[in-house]
Amino acid sequence: MDVTVVVPTFNEGPNVAELVRRLGDVLDDDVAPGGGEVLFVDDSTDDTPAVIAAVAAASALPVRLIHRERPDGGLSGAVVEGLRAATGQHVVVMDGDLQHPPEMVPVLLTRAHESGADVVVASRYTGRGDAGGLDGRWRRLVSQVSGLLARSMFPVKLREVSDPMTGFFVVRPTAVDLGSLRPRGFKILLEILARQRLSVVEEPFVFGERFAGRSKATVANGVRYVQQLTLLRFGRLSPFAVIGAAGAVLNLAILAGLQGLGVHYLPAVVVANGLTIVTNFLLQEHYVFPDLRDGVHGFWGRFVRSFAFNGSEAVARTVVLWWIVENALWHPEIVQALLILVAFVVRFVFQAQVVYRP
Ligand code: GDD
Ligand code: MN
Repeated sequence: MDVTVVVPTFNEGPNVAELVRRLGDVLDDDVAPGGGEVLFVDDSTDDTPAVIAAVAAASALPVRLIHRERPDGGLSGAVVEGLRAATGQHVVVMDGDLQHPPEMVPVLLTRAHESGADVVVASRYTGRGDAGGLDGRWRRLVSQVSGLLARSMFPVKLREVSDPMTGFFVVRPTAVDLGSLRPRGFKILLEILARQRLSVVEEPFVFGERFAGRSKATVANGVRYVQQLTLLRFGRLSPFAVIGAAGAVLNLAILAGLQGLGVHYLPAVVVANGLTIVTNFLLQEHYVFPDLRDGVHGFWGRFVRSFAFNGSEAVARTVVLWWIVENALWHPEIVQALLILVAFVVRFVFQAQVVYRP
């Protein structure tokens, strides 16, 4: 098979027949002499799978359907699943609502062959490209600002890419390390481009109007996008470091505050450690490991593991602190600050290896 067109769908029934018909018109022997196919990766909650099956039965162009009972990773997860199951040497990824014109597919494939690039991006923001069909001035602005943000965070990998947020592209699946991807939200191209160094070229295209139905984008997708960017740019260590630093400041403030109230440094340390272990856990749930937490031990299971380890570590640290303060006569705050730094490295390794290991 030369070409697999991967189409993620969520309740797109009324668009399926039109999309397959127009793809059938353009995927001829010139574009795909070895054959082409359409692969729907569907998470629908309505009758879309039945519609796809009916269209497939009547279509000359081979149509396959993967219906996911567990829609992991949403749109991005669906695309990755499509890349796994694709048989084509080239995979075209496009939306199912005809905002991505099927007539562009031969243009993109020709460019892929001529350039030999790993990825051909269909861009709204280069040459004659246009974001016309992006409904509303607000969404256009959000799209442009988030694209700008992504490009400033990945100046090298996205240098040639004017539209890292597009959902329309051609990729050689063998060039992509699928195992490295952490799909979430809508921005699968960004995930692919930011994880690896791939060769990229662009073709302008005009983002059209939806054929039927409404956009599935939500505010939650926007939040996922910011999380995705942080994880891509900083990996796990850095948000962990930011939270750890905030926790350390809080810890030292509690320690100093309680001592100021006349509390002995030892009970003050115990209270400070206990409270910050809880706040750090809650923050890391949301900002460090948001993509791993689903299905791993359950909230309380993770809390107990995390608390058991950090609690024992804090007890050991308190003993060391007591010993140093009594013998070296240093200020408890200074000893505590140094010990927190050492503990930070140890704790990070434990969290990543035990608490969040699937
Ligand atoms: N399988 C699956 N699972 N498909 C989904 C899901 C999901 O959870 N959510 C959306 N889709 C499918 C839709 O059915 C459609 O075929 C395609 O993904 C794009 O969804 P739309 O709802 O049409 O998104 P959009 O038009 O607002 O956004 C598109 O344009 C953006 C550019 O501004 C997408 O291509 C975005 O990726 C792109 O960034
Ligand atoms: Mn759309």
